[in-house]
Amino acid sequence: MSFDVAAEAYDRFMGRYSRLLSPQLADLAGVEHGQRAVDVGCGPGALTAELVARVGADAVAAVDPSEPFVAAAQARNPGVDVRLASAEQLPFPDDTFDVALAQLVVHFMSDPVAGLAEMARVTRPDGVVAACVWDHGGGNGPLSPFWDAARELDPGVHDESQLAGAREGHLTELFEAAGLRQVSETSLAADLAHATFEEWWQPFELGVGPAGSYASGLDADRRAELRNACRRRLSTEPFVITARAWAARGVV
Ligand SMILES: C[S@@+](CC[C@H](N)C(=O)[O-])C[C@H]1O[C@@H](n2cnc3c(N)ncnc32)[C@H](O)[C@@H]1O
Repeated sequence: MSFDVAAEAYDRFMGRYSRLLSPQLADLAGVEHGQRAVDVGCGPGALTAELVARVGADAVAAVDPSEPFVAAAQARNPGVDVRLASAEQLPFPDDTFDVALAQLVVHFMSDPVAGLAEMARVTRPDGVVAACVWDHGGGNGPLSPFWDAARELDPGVHDESQLAGAREGHLTELFEAAGLRQVSETSLAADLAHATFEEWWQPFELGVGPAGSYASGLDADRRAELRNACRRRLSTEPFVITARAWAARGVV
């Protein structure tokens, strides 16, 4: 699976953007000292670190189905209870946490409604569940220049635009289907400057996530064509990738 990769590869490919969302998602969920929080689909631990800063390591738990990511999240966040698990089957009793968060994970869940319902189950009554997903559907994700170029060369490519939560309003639908109350949706912003095209492109060749899998699965000539199509879109150096994520919160 495309997240069975080294944490450092993830950091270079997606962690560079996801860390910009963590304080915003924690603010949306209202995470504050005295609460217990769980980071679902923690990856190498970008949001986990934000939660530790707010509530302390012994009040934070985290899960991810990727073994290298669990190892990295544990090493980077000593004292946090990090476990190998998926959202759809969380290894915690009912009402364990005050808040459950999933940053850039709902679109990878095999059953997003079941995953969100599990997050609600482990959160106490009146606690908060919050999640965000890049606006892949609206063409405003950090990978949008890549998928635009891929579609130019292969109009039938399976990009990430149809994934769960990746368009306006869909997280709200999923939260309500999972039984959450008082659901509200907003957008989060993540702008990142890139000094050179090469610095932006190179991590796509590390095989991380659907985009990395797609790029690394092409033969050398097709990959060079894709790289050139991206280059035409990002021809002025330095440049800023302006990304948006849809974010929802609901009450248990
Ligand atoms: C884009 S990464 C986000 C990681 C981290 N939350 C961040 O913001 O950097 C997606 C993560 O979801 C995890 N994942 C995939 N399917 C999952 C599932 N069913 N339940 C929980 N996590 C899942 C992957 O292993 C990966 O770590």
